[in-house]
Amino acid sequence: MTGLPSRYDLTGRTALVTGAGGLLGRQHVAALVDAGARVVLTDIGLKQADAAINTIRESNPSSELIAAALDVTSLDSVHAVADDLASRGVTIDILVNNAAIDPKVTSTPGVMHSSRFEAFPVPQWQTEIAVGLTGAMLCSQVFGGAMARRGRGVILNIASDLGVIAPDQRLYRQPNITRDEEQPVKPVTYSVIKHGLIGLTKYLATYWADQGVRVNAISPGGVFNNQDPAFVERLTRLIPMGRMARVDEYCAAVQFLCSDASSYMTGQNMVMDGGRSVW
Ligand SMILES: NC(=O)c1ccc[n+]([C@@H]2O[C@H](COP(=O)([O-])OP(=O)(O)OC[C@H]3O[C@@H](n4cnc5c(N)ncnc54)[C@H](O)[C@@H]3O)[C@@H](O)[C@H]2O)c1
Repeated sequence: MTGLPSRYDLTGRTALVTGAGGLLGRQHVAALVDAGARVVLTDIGLKQADAAINTIRESNPSSELIAAALDVTSLDSVHAVADDLASRGVTIDILVNNAAIDPKVTSTPGVMHSSRFEAFPVPQWQTEIAVGLTGAMLCSQVFGGAMARRGRGVILNIASDLGVIAPDQRLYRQPNITRDEEQPVKPVTYSVIKHGLIGLTKYLATYWADQGVRVNAISPGGVFNNQDPAFVERLTRLIPMGRMARVDEYCAAVQFLCSDASSYMTGQNMVMDGGRSVW
């Protein structure tokens, strides 16, 4: 553990992160490793999880990391990983529900944009909710259920500032498109999933409060990742701090919420959005 107070110490605990191969997933893993945890990196394919392991080992060669392919939409897949870990004597103390699909908002002039609510395809609704919301439910059911039986554990759900506020659709407007119905929008699924995750957080926090399982959420604001400069400018005007997040700015919150440092906190949603949601 690198210089953290002892209540943040995760030595001897094992965390499982879903969608660990992605932009923020890798940061969550690095934060947990820095606090001393062993981490099971899961993603839809082993390739993504292995790639994340290679990156993390570059800065932390002695970290204890396990890769697993886990499709959060499939209860069979969640059970298969849980069974495999159990057969190797690995129990999960911390679950980070991070996996999601966030389709890029692009547009084709001349056709009603499929992201618009009036045209939103049901298969896309089902696919995105299956990953972002049902996935968190299934992983909580299997790994959280085992924590409750053992009388100890932590779940952290990765929500979003759009779990507490509505998307400002002006951010996504394309200047070359004049007809409103051709303008892309942030899809309804994102709002539903992220508000739903905060509901799941409160539900499970109270459901398992007397069984030693704490459940909290983080609602991150947008991470700067070389997005279109015009979009970044429009977005940062909505953020009191005047900038998007740096990719590592949620690490300390992950360490806090996954460790005994937050031992008297459950059912809460920590909003970290540069102040966007209070403006
Ligand atoms: N990046 C941001 O600006 C931002 C802001 C707020 C909230 N978030 C949330 O943080 C989380 C991580 O975001 P990110 O930017 O790292 O996204 P990302 O797209 O980089 O990573 C998501 C990961 O989930 C995995 N995944 C997709 N389907 C899966 C499935 N069926 N089973 C298992 N894994 C699956 C992907 O392979 C990918 O590695 C998401 O919940 C996202 O909504 C991100």
